[in-house]
Amino acid sequence: MPKDVIIACDFDSADAVYAFLDRFHGKKPFVKIGMELFYAEGPSIVREIKRRGHKIFLDLKLHDIPNTVKKSMTVLSGLDVDMCNVHAAGTSSMMKAALEGLTRADGTRPLLIAVTQLTSTGQEQLEQELLIQKPMEEVVASYAKNAASAGLDGVVCSPLEAAKVHAVCGKSFVTVTPGIRFADSAAGDQKRIMTPADAAKAGSDYIVVGRPITQADDPAAAYERCCREFLGA
Ligand code: C5P
Repeated sequence: MPKDVIIACDFDSADAVYAFLDRFHGKKPFVKIGMELFYAEGPSIVREIKRRGHKIFLDLKLHDIPNTVKKSMTVLSGLDVDMCNVHAAGTSSMMKAALEGLTRADGTRPLLIAVTQLTSTGQEQLEQELLIQKPMEEVVASYAKNAASAGLDGVVCSPLEAAKVHAVCGKSFVTVTPGIRFADSAAGDQKRIMTPADAAKAGSDYIVVGRPITQADDPAAAYERCCREFLGA
């Protein structure tokens, strides 16, 4: 299973993200393009970052009726990204439809990952607002099982749940984990967090790191620190 650090490029313009990526001095980290950048710039930003040689996780978290998700995934499959995602809350029929839509005529497709519960959601919100009266780890494991049986490649979850997901869905089922903070950085709105080193110990396959790198005085150094802590490289 390849392990990697994915930088969440949460910027509001192409200029801002190019200026950021230029600070990596020729290194080409795996990047995540989320809603903010995609809504600001559209598909051209994906093509340009790909052309620059980066692997891309297109994090648009689709969640709609199966037919709409299937057709949207067909459009996204033309963008040649490496990973994209849906919300597991859309249920198995939506996840299966997503997979069908994403698969190209030649049988190839990007990795398809399901968001279980957002890492900004805590146990209290799960119970009080979403009316799910179960421990978070159990909810995440159950959503992961649904994703695996729908044929998806893995889930987005907190590193706190990565070991449980692997125990339930197998070692080769991919865990992509945001909610990463250095021991000395601010949590911000994230609730279920871990350091890169602890995420590695917990079995995360990919860590997604945004503000600890994007807001750092020296983003390239913060990225190197993440790689050292997570990959031991
Ligand atoms: O800045 P920070 O490290 O908190 O960024 C985390 C990134 O991961 C954000 O782009 C956020 O949208 C994304 N994400 C998340 N929790 C999920 C799925 C995606 O934080 N469950």
